[in-house]
Amino acid sequence: MTDFTDSAARATELRKQIDQHNYRYYVLDEPAIPDAEYDRLFNELRAIEEQFPELVTQDSPTQRVGSEPSPSFSQVQHEVPMLSLANAFSDDDLYDFDRRVRQRLSGDRKIEYVCEPKLDGLAVSLLYENGALVRGATRGDGATGEDVTSNIRTVRNIPLKLQGSGWPQVLEVRGEVYMPRRGFEQLNERAREEGSKSFANPRNAAAGSLRQLDSRITAQRPLEFCAYGYGRVEGGELPDNQHEILLRVRDWGLKINAEMRLVDSVQGCLDYYRMLGEKRDTLAYDIDGIVFKLNSLEQQKVLGFVARSPRWAVAFKFPAQEEMTELQDVEFRVGRTGAVTPVARLRPVSVGGVTVSNATLHNMDEIERLGVMIGDSVVIRRAGDVIPQVVQVVLERRPEGARPIPVPKLCPVCGSDVERTQIVKRSKGRETYTEGSVLRCVGRLTCQAQVKQAIIHFVSRRAMDIDGLGEKSVEQLVDHQLVHSPADLFRLKADDVLTLEGFAELSANNLIDSINASRQPSLARFVYALGIPDVGEETAKLLARAFGSLEWISKALPEVLVYLPDVGGEVAHEIHAFFDDEHNQQVIKQLRANGVDVQEEGSLAPEFAASVSFAEFIARLEIPYVASTSAERLAKSFGNLQQLIEADWLDLKQVDRLNDKAIKSLRGFFQDTENRQRAEAIEAQLREFGMHWESPRAKADSLPLAGQSWVLTGTLETFSRDVAKEYLESLGAKVAGSVSARTHCVVAGPGAGSKLARAEELKVPVLDEQGLLDLLAKNAILV
Ligand code: IVH
Repeated sequence: MTDFTDSAARATELRKQIDQHNYRYYVLDEPAIPDAEYDRLFNELRAIEEQFPELVTQDSPTQRVGSEPSPSFSQVQHEVPMLSLANAFSDDDLYDFDRRVRQRLSGDRKIEYVCEPKLDGLAVSLLYENGALVRGATRGDGATGEDVTSNIRTVRNIPLKLQGSGWPQVLEVRGEVYMPRRGFEQLNERAREEGSKSFANPRNAAAGSLRQLDSRITAQRPLEFCAYGYGRVEGGELPDNQHEILLRVRDWGLKINAEMRLVDSVQGCLDYYRMLGEKRDTLAYDIDGIVFKLNSLEQQKVLGFVARSPRWAVAFKFPAQEEMTELQDVEFRVGRTGAVTPVARLRPVSVGGVTVSNATLHNMDEIERLGVMIGDSVVIRRAGDVIPQVVQVVLERRPEGARPIPVPKLCPVCGSDVERTQIVKRSKGRETYTEGSVLRCVGRLTCQAQVKQAIIHFVSRRAMDIDGLGEKSVEQLVDHQLVHSPADLFRLKADDVLTLEGFAELSANNLIDSINASRQPSLARFVYALGIPDVGEETAKLLARAFGSLEWISKALPEVLVYLPDVGGEVAHEIHAFFDDEHNQQVIKQLRANGVDVQEEGSLAPEFAASVSFAEFIARLEIPYVASTSAERLAKSFGNLQQLIEADWLDLKQVDRLNDKAIKSLRGFFQDTENRQRAEAIEAQLREFGMHWESPRAKADSLPLAGQSWVLTGTLETFSRDVAKEYLESLGAKVAGSVSARTHCVVAGPGAGSKLARAEELKVPVLDEQGLLDLLAKNAILV
């Protein structure tokens, strides 16, 4: 019984903590703990609830996974109708609105407007009774909506119960359910990968997700809610103005828009409109205008309603983010890796104030899904900083002469064959998934488009940083056959450069000087400049630090590369394949022959000096039926690979709780010469790189920062905070998101703010980046 009682108390405590973290994360946008720690709390609660299902409560944060599909939605009558807004499209419209307001208020009173972004999602009503969420409904026609409670319950930032105190017994909160842009892009990307239907825009995606009959699907969609108003209020009171009502609603645990402002004149409204219009592209979500509302409820009452809209509010629309235009042609462009992507050539159209004449069509799969033909009227969307996209075909407007988009058989640039490859990417473990098909020019560096892109990347600021060599000049160099690969840049003469458009003697000499100045790149820059698919700056830095020389990087087996933090199977495979390629080896050789002198540390694998468990090594061999638990048992019985290979049936039978399937699979695996040699090669390379087997327990206890809590803040130059976190964790520290009296140390880079101040206040030791590097070096993590 005590076990049960303890678990009940712990579950209550965990729910309280998780609700609080949700509030900080979703409403205040100030998470207090890292995601991993949140997951730990969440998993602990779930484990308790699994053990004692009677402890599960309706409002437990674990109950947001959705439930069995329902046959249809039942109807909901809105006791207080859900109205819509009148629109304004120009400054004059807004002045008219303000004039009408003042007239009705007989002119002499103080007027304040609340300015709120108009989110582009769908309106919903949330009904709280005694603080508990009892119903969620769509707006419908304003009088009758649909009961979508089980879907609403899966939206992470909608509290299942209100926090704090003072809420009315019955409180209907109204607001918008929407899908932030990032979540929308990811959802569509996944849909494209899986070959399922993508959504035209975040609003459709939000509406489609909220109107799912199977709430388990809704639970997987990145929906958010933002409150902007109220409906029924009984058994309690709200403040007497819109601004304070929303602040109060936020105190009760609901998200409100962080951009909300109070102004005291129509000029203030216009200034706000301009300000947010400029900021529009950088917001995390789509907005289609600004809503201005008279702040005082008393004044609102005086104004009342006309038809279905309040006279006290107006929506000032922004230019639309979607427009219709004609698809005049499709051009195929070749990228750095040879991917041939279709680009829509459009009749130029202004979308949200920017003229768009090209848009991406992603790939052939997308063209097929859209069913688009040349000559079609298409809907273009441009939002945020993503490239404009073709999102829809207007079939009713298809002209007679519309023709299918031809699939190129030959590369439009070099004439080599174009392959349509089904990309199968390896994800973690044994699972594989396809990423749809991609057209690829097989011409590689004989293809001028690929050479140009490779060189543009090679010379870019974060790569070799060759000043004065823009895209146009690179194109000319390649077109004039002066340069065939990055290596040729280092043989250029000022006279060659002078033949290019836009160069005079001085600029030609300057370019040669900057080429010369780049001859001694750091290893990290050089690796990044090579343009290995999936290897960005961070990974390049990591490889450089871990291996110390190009030779070691190029030798590393994919199975060994994955021991580096942040390097997954796909990236490891790309790195290995790149250096395995003869042409790439040739280019690197020529670069060196032409005087590029990569600055290598020369010392090998400091990261690898840390020991790795033998169990992890066994698990990573991916032998069927031998997952991590069996691997640990095997590691306990056999000290090294040779012993494991030589183990016979009887030896394996001795291993604690190892089943026959695993034994059979293991024996079969090592009897295959190829598997055995591969495993031996990996082990040999790990040893060569300085790794040694050690028992995991001995390792954990002896770590230098065991039991300590660290906090990272500000920017770090050597590596990202994520990588720094992994290093600290590999020394036994826990890395937390906020500073408290229990924090052992704070690492503060430039730009550190409140966390650094708090550390100083609490007298917690602070290290700068160099201090961290010294610590890592001292512990043989870095040299
Ligand atoms: S107020 C009576 N505020 O715009 C007031 N609406 O046509 C009714 N919307 O259906 C709405 N953001 O879905 C209001 N901050 C905001 C809003 C907002 C988006 C949507 C809402 C409504 C439509 C108005």
